[in-house]
Amino acid sequence: MASGLIRRHLALSLHRNVRLSAPACRYASKAAPKTDQDYDYSGPSMKTTVPGPRTQNVGAINFFCNYEESRGNYLVDVDGNRMLDLYTQISSIPIGYNHPDLLKLMSNPNNLVAPSGITRVQTMACGSCANENAYKAMFIWYRNKERGPNAPSEEELSSCMINQSPGCPELSILSFMGGFHGRTMGCLSTTHSKPIHKLDLPSFDWPIAPFPHLQYPLEEFTRENAQEEARCLEEVEDLIVRWRQKGKPVAGIVIEPIQAEGGDNHASPDFFRNLRNIARKHGCAFHVDEVQTGGGATGKFWAHEHWGLDDPADIVAFSKKMLTGGYFHKDELQADKPYRIFNTWMGDPSKNLMLAEVLNVIRTENLLEEVCRSGKALLNGLYELQARYPGMLSRARGQGTFCAIDICDDATRTSLLNKARDKGVLLGGCGSQSIRFRPALVFKEYHVHMFLNIFNDVLAQHK
Ligand SMILES: Cc1ncc(COP(=O)(O)O)c(C=O)c1O
Repeated sequence: MASGLIRRHLALSLHRNVRLSAPACRYASKAAPKTDQDYDYSGPSMKTTVPGPRTQNVGAINFFCNYEESRGNYLVDVDGNRMLDLYTQISSIPIGYNHPDLLKLMSNPNNLVAPSGITRVQTMACGSCANENAYKAMFIWYRNKERGPNAPSEEELSSCMINQSPGCPELSILSFMGGFHGRTMGCLSTTHSKPIHKLDLPSFDWPIAPFPHLQYPLEEFTRENAQEEARCLEEVEDLIVRWRQKGKPVAGIVIEPIQAEGGDNHASPDFFRNLRNIARKHGCAFHVDEVQTGGGATGKFWAHEHWGLDDPADIVAFSKKMLTGGYFHKDELQADKPYRIFNTWMGDPSKNLMLAEVLNVIRTENLLEEVCRSGKALLNGLYELQARYPGMLSRARGQGTFCAIDICDDATRTSLLNKARDKGVLLGGCGSQSIRFRPALVFKEYHVHMFLNIFNDVLAQHK
């Protein structure tokens, strides 16, 4: 295994050699000096087509991974193919595969017992579980506000046992078209990214607002985008009023800082600040779903830190890069009695231990700065490729390394994703025709240039 690890000076010279042997017409993305970890590989290495002979008859699965051999930014499959991973299990690998500090942590027997939780943080096993319980917390909070000091009535206690009001009240959560908040029954009523997630499953009659459809680059279309955002905010207020009149008041508003699964749709800080104000004005809780955006990929630890909110969100849900699922919440959103928000494991305590080390590495290796640097290079590179291949690429966008680009159609997207994989680069899609970039936080500028060079070759060869 150690023989696969190439030390820094060797990696640097190999990297240069790769560039020297590149065809003359190749995309001129520059090579950044390689300055970091010894444990990362030097580049992709493909031994077979993917899926290879050892990954057979796998149906919906693309290939089997060899997680022991995977390192840093590279995922290795069971056929020994090593791929630069810009997808990282849909953005869930915060500091690369097999970071030595995590390996050290897990090999220490004293660390196998989990520490106790933190106040006002509710851990859960996954993102859906986090949102599902956060919705419950918002409903409990809302009803307790309405009840004031009174205890629940006998009628409420008996009617809730047969799924009837007033014990089971007609409350709602407002969500956005294109949003994704998980696949459990409650979350599904707020998920609107793809029909396949929702088909055949009963859903609550909850309001769905339009999410702004912005033009990119954002800086060039500020006036048009502001108009589009104002239209959506107006609709939000209208829906809140209409659902109150229908007898299904909105207890909470849930939103992703960047709609991820739904196609990497952005909105401005102004939009989110106004939305927060609307939530407060109408007595609704404001729930920011940072399951995919949280943990540093946007260049700040939480994407909503980019907004400059005066009044923080009431709930912030997390999972993925945070390793454990859960949600942060304000004091008022604490359920009034034990076991109202509860399940057997309440997440996986050993993940908290790993998370502590992840946070430590993010801090000591200045990974948020790194993300800003490589994110800038990635977005600039995507702009260049988009100018070079306007028939195929459009709408490059991003914050940190949380970037995306649109492909002319779904079939071309699938073909590009497969060809990139055959050249040793792992990417993923989102929405109807976007490719999303979700590298780990240890993805450096030289990885960006390595990717851009390979992706340019894929685009140039595409027929
Ligand atoms: C924004 C968002 N919320 C919720 C979820 C659901 O998380 P999980 O798959 O852990 O249930 C996801 C998963 O991709 C997500 O991206």
